[in-house]
Amino acid sequence: MKKIEIITRPDKLEDIKEILDSGGQFGMTVSMVSGCGLQKGRKQIYRGAEVTINLLPKIKVELVVKDGMAGPLVEAITQRLRTGEIGDGKIFIYEVLDAVKIRTGEIGESAL
Ligand SMILES: Nc1ncnc2c1ncn2[C@@H]1O[C@H](COP(=O)(O)OP(=O)(O)OP(=O)(O)O)[C@@H](O)[C@H]1O
Ligand SMILES: [Mg+2]
Repeated sequence: MKKIEIITRPDKLEDIKEILDSGGQFGMTVSMVSGCGLQKGRKQIYRGAEVTINLLPKIKVELVVKDGMAGPLVEAITQRLRTGEIGDGKIFIYEVLDAVKIRTGEIGESAL
């Protein structure tokens, strides 16, 4: 199993939901977060003055999927979210050791 963590602009949530819905993935966790990347959150430089790190509002979408689904999903999300502008976001992919579905006691992929 893989955990896919997408951090991107808040207005991209509907796009992500559409992709997940059509892909048969039904578990997701969404958080409102603050973050910055390479530009340290700067949208512009004010009168040439360097400002300190600025945290911008972002959404973080986390989902755990079967191994075979991870690649196509990451590909689809990347294509959908790419505008070519700075701040398009990032996707981090993690190995998941195990999962437990509390109601049934199922473990591993059956727990998803
Ligand atoms: N290395 C990182 N570690 C943790 N979170 C990160 C990292 N890079 C980016 N993020 C998160 O992703 C969000 C979006 O990052 P962003 O797309 O601006 O990355 P970037 O590297 O600056 O790329 P770009 O130059 O396209 O803007 C950030 O606000 C932050 O929350
Ligand atoms: Mg950036």
